[in-house]
Amino acid sequence: MEVVIGPGAELGRLAADAIEQLLRAQPDAVLGLATGSSPLAVYDELARRYADGGLSFARARAFMLDEYVGLDEGHPERYRNVIEKEIASRVDFAEGAVQGPDGLADDLVLACRAYEEAIAEVGGVDIQLLGIGTDGHVAFNEPGSSLASRTRIKTLTRQTREDNARFFGGDVDKVPAHCLTQGLATIMSARHLVLLATGKGKAEAVHQLVEGPVSAMWPATILQHHPHVTVLVDDAAASRLQLADYYRETYLSKPGWQGL
Ligand code: GLP
Repeated sequence: MEVVIGPGAELGRLAADAIEQLLRAQPDAVLGLATGSSPLAVYDELARRYADGGLSFARARAFMLDEYVGLDEGHPERYRNVIEKEIASRVDFAEGAVQGPDGLADDLVLACRAYEEAIAEVGGVDIQLLGIGTDGHVAFNEPGSSLASRTRIKTLTRQTREDNARFFGGDVDKVPAHCLTQGLATIMSARHLVLLATGKGKAEAVHQLVEGPVSAMWPATILQHHPHVTVLVDDAAASRLQLADYYRETYLSKPGWQGL
């Protein structure tokens, strides 16, 4: 696991560099997209690189991590619409190239299975962007999630609904109680995981993720078992890391050719 500590805009650039490098080498790469505020700097940077004419997503495909259950098609907080607004509509993905779990399906169990199959059919995700919840969830894998889970329906914790109420006019009761989410094993199947976290509110979750014991109580800790994980954090999110100085030194002395 590589930990890079730096200012927010720089972190967004680093993640965008990794995606650009991948798309240049493999234009039909499969990207894993995350919602939440953490990846927004990456999306802004990717949109800028596309607008500058250098970067194309025309042959790429993308899979979202998760979706609320039951939000209408037009609801602005439906994750499919959030991803459309924040990245898909700003670059040149082909029609139908971005997929998400169907939170409006009549048969949600079947929808989850179909989603796993769709990811497998294209050979899996090459680079997966991730955020982290204050309680250590990734995607919507709340504490207690099976570390071997695949895409399924989950109930959100009160904490997550309170954290996300800011997107629903501050009203926690408007935040859906259920979601469909890629499981931890689904996420672990991606070839490169890039997790972004900023702000003091994430400091404990980041400490557990990088330095805590692997436990379903802090679901993100399963990432310690992945061979290629990059954790991009600002000073505030890094403030509880015991080995912060070591991570800084390591990154400073890293040869430029290595990339993330
Ligand atoms: C939601 C999303 C997660 C995201 C988390 C943190 O719960 N399902 O994928 O990582 O929020 O969001 P933010 O980046 O806004 O702090």
